[in-house]
Order: sequence, then C-alpha cells, then structure tokens
Amino acid sequence: MDIVEQKKQVGKYAASLVEDKMTVGLGTGSTVKFFVDALAERVKNEGLDIIGVTTSNRTAEQATSLGIKIVDLDAVENIDLTIDGADRVNQQLDGIKGGGAALLFEKIVAINSKQNIWIVDETKLADPLGGFPLPVEVVTYGVGHLIELFAKADLHPVLRKDAAGETVVTDNGNYIIDLHLDQIENPVELADWLAQQVGVIEHGLFINIANHVIVAGEEIKVLDRK
Ligand code: A5P
Repeated sequence: MDIVEQKKQVGKYAASLVEDKMTVGLGTGSTVKFFVDALAERVKNEGLDIIGVTTSNRTAEQATSLGIKIVDLDAVENIDLTIDGADRVNQQLDGIKGGGAALLFEKIVAINSKQNIWIVDETKLADPLGGFPLPVEVVTYGVGHLIELFAKADLHPVLRKDAAGETVVTDNGNYIIDLHLDQIENPVELADWLAQQVGVIEHGLFINIANHVIVAGEEIKVLDRK
C-alpha cells in the first residue's frame, strides 16, 4: 500500500470512531485531510451531528467548505475527541508535530481534549524520535539571536522558508525554527529546556498527549498509551 493509500486508510478509519453529538478536534496535515473528507461524508450521508474545533486556517477552510460546523475553542467546554496527524511517534506514543507549522493550535486543542488519537502511516514510527526536524514556533522579534542560542546548544537550527524562499509565517504571525537533530534521546529534557527559552512560543514535542496512535498498513494497528 503506498503512502497516500495509507493516509486515506487511517483517515477513514478515524472518521468511523466519531460518534453522534461529539465535539471533535480536527488536526492539520495531509493525513487529517482524508479524515476530514471521510467525516464530512458521514455528516452528509448519515446525518451525523457533530461540532468541529480546528487547529489551522487550512483545516477550518476544508471543514467549512464540506459542511462541517466549526466553532471557536472558547465556545465549547471541552473537546470529546481530537484526531490529528504526527511527524514522528515513539513507543511511548510521544511525538514530533508541526511539520505543517500548526503545532501551537494543535497543542492547545489537544490539551483541551478528553481523548487524542493520532493517525499515521508506517514511516512515522521512530524510536528514539528522529529523522524529522523538530519545529519550534518563535516570536519574530530577535529571531536571529534565538537561532544563535540554539546553534550554541548544538541544536542545528534552520529558519523555515517556503518553496519560494520566503520565511514561513504561522497562522499566528510567528516564525518556525526547525532543529535538525539526528535523534532525540531525551525528549522530556529537551522539551523543558525549549519551554524555558525567551522568545519560544511552543515546540513540537508532544509528550504525554496521544492516548492512541492508529498506524496504517496491510492491517491497521492501534497502539495504546500504557
Ligand atoms: C501540522 O503542523 C503537523 O503537526 C501535522 O499534524 C503533521 O505534520 C502530520 O502531517 P502529515 O499528515 O501531512 O504527515
């Protein structure tokens, strides 16, 4: 099964887990896009009555255009279930997220959700975490100094640019610095250090957040947090 088929497979599977009357967190990325498509099909065909809370402008636009009702996070008490993608996941179900630059809203939505499920293809499993740059969302002011600080700490920082060479600006008007690390042996220690640095808004280490990870493949695997 190729990667696109895997993404479709887990997206559809995740849509089958949504129940009537749920408030659902909608993640961001190419895998979640298939989930939102499949969820919208259920809304249309089965009259599934749900409310969505989104994690990016992209997902909000897609969901709204497909007829899913979207509300602001502050309009709901909490979220029943959030379905999101991930860039890397280890055996503890901690992960790297933010490849699509939506990590800040993804983390805010996740911590306000009773259940978090990530949907991934097989290439995303990595223990220790690695093989994908760790995104850090930062304030634009003084970004050069923060890059220097990360470089001194041997974190191999690169300011994210788009295909046209323009600096990527997040939905919240911030920049992303990607840390090119081979392996993250101690994600908790790195997460704590990053959170303490002035100018860092949020980092892409999602620790203790996913309850389950659904992995695509010939047979779908569901991994549970222990
Ligand atoms: C968005 O910022 C990310 O956290 C995505 O959830 C993550 O990059 C997974 O995206 P794909 O499903 O496109 O790989």
